Amino acid sequence: MNHFEYRNGVLYAEDVSLERLAAEVGTPFYCYSTATLERHYNVFADAFSDVRAKICYGVKANSNLAVIRTLAAAGAGADIVSEGELRLALAAGVPADRIVFSGVGKSKSEMAQALDAGIYQFNVESEPELEALSEVASSKGMEAAVAIRVNPDVDAKTHAKISTGKAENKFGIPWSRIRQVYGQAANLPGIRIVGVDVHIGSQITDLAPFEAAYKRIAELALALRQDGHNIERLDLGGGLGIPYRDDVGAPPLPVEYAEMVKRTVGYLDCELVFEPGRMLVGNAGVLVSRIIYMKTGETRTFAIVDAAMNDLLRPSLYEAYHHILPLHEAESDVPLTPVDFVGPICESGDTFAVERPMPPLADGDLVAICSSGAYGAVMSSTYNARPLAPEVLVKKDQYAVVRERPDYEAMMAQHKLPGWFDGPPQDGAA
Ligand code: LLP
Repeated sequence: MNHFEYRNGVLYAEDVSLERLAAEVGTPFYCYSTATLERHYNVFADAFSDVRAKICYGVKANSNLAVIRTLAAAGAGADIVSEGELRLALAAGVPADRIVFSGVGKSKSEMAQALDAGIYQFNVESEPELEALSEVASSKGMEAAVAIRVNPDVDAKTHAKISTGKAENKFGIPWSRIRQVYGQAANLPGIRIVGVDVHIGSQITDLAPFEAAYKRIAELALALRQDGHNIERLDLGGGLGIPYRDDVGAPPLPVEYAEMVKRTVGYLDCELVFEPGRMLVGNAGVLVSRIIYMKTGETRTFAIVDAAMNDLLRPSLYEAYHHILPLHEAESDVPLTPVDFVGPICESGDTFAVERPMPPLADGDLVAICSSGAYGAVMSSTYNARPLAPEVLVKKDQYAVVRERPDYEAMMAQHKLPGWFDGPPQDGAA
């Protein structure tokens, strides 16, 4: 459930008309709903309220400071993968002892900063990383709490680019070496083993792959305990899928996921750590865009909108489906015709939707590209020298621009001409 709905024929985010936002902020822009963020967090947290669990929001899905702050205020911790995300999580008020650090390529300087901040756990993904962390922690006279990420070789049955738990993926330590690596970790200074970590992929819409992975994790936890290790936490990653469209079966509910988790690993009496990203923010955001031109091609009708693949890359990169709603609700009996939604970028891949059945549309109309709260703004770029789209957060009848659209002066000021060009630099280019 989300808080984007038509009121008197116009699409609203909570109590704010998106049409009014378009007039005041300009298009394209991202709009997030506080009530939806809170609702999604609470649904997930409530599903685990009867067990010891930490819900560490996967900040990579949407690292807007106000979004993190909203979730932190609801009780979320953070799963981070970089110094930038560490800084954002701390600045948003996430307590350090609710931050876990994931990722295959943490640098020593990132490790040092996370240790200084006092984070809860490092999820370590390779032997060299383990050694680097041992070196950094022991040189500071500190101990890093470590869970080692295991690659359970399970097919998450999701898009190949977001599947992470197969043997051929770069993530985690291979199943065949994992006990040996725990043995090495136990002998390294500055390393304190606290648990096991796994994450098999994203937008997973079936419980079976999760269950297969978690069963292996439980088996491993028992074996590691037998080997004499302290396994008090299980970090089960993120990955629970969200509904992007109404015409295919809905993914499992958090409560169904939770029931499976408790059945599968509950008997180990570990603290559970979760890293949900998309599930918390995906359907809490839309990308609002204006149709620049309706263009009739030889075989297709194109709506050329002012958002593009640089703003929302998912359709181009993963052939992802995003529902598109006109900001003005169509009459229910109006005939629908197929429309391709494309952006102004000079690539055929700059396409949001192909042959999407739509009511009549005209130049200047506004549309909302739905379910854009996760992996939308965070994956944007300035390709074609387009400014990043601003982000707006709505709370009931209030709104705030929580990341501004950069102006062209700021964009131009980042460019520096080398001294070997003759003559004075042009205004704005220096
Ligand atoms: N934990 C780890 C270690 C991860 O790598 C990820 C996502 C998450 C948690 C959060 O997963 P979620 O709950 O959001 O599924 N850009 C892609 C998704 C990439 C996911 C990367 N890792 C997309 O737009 O679909």
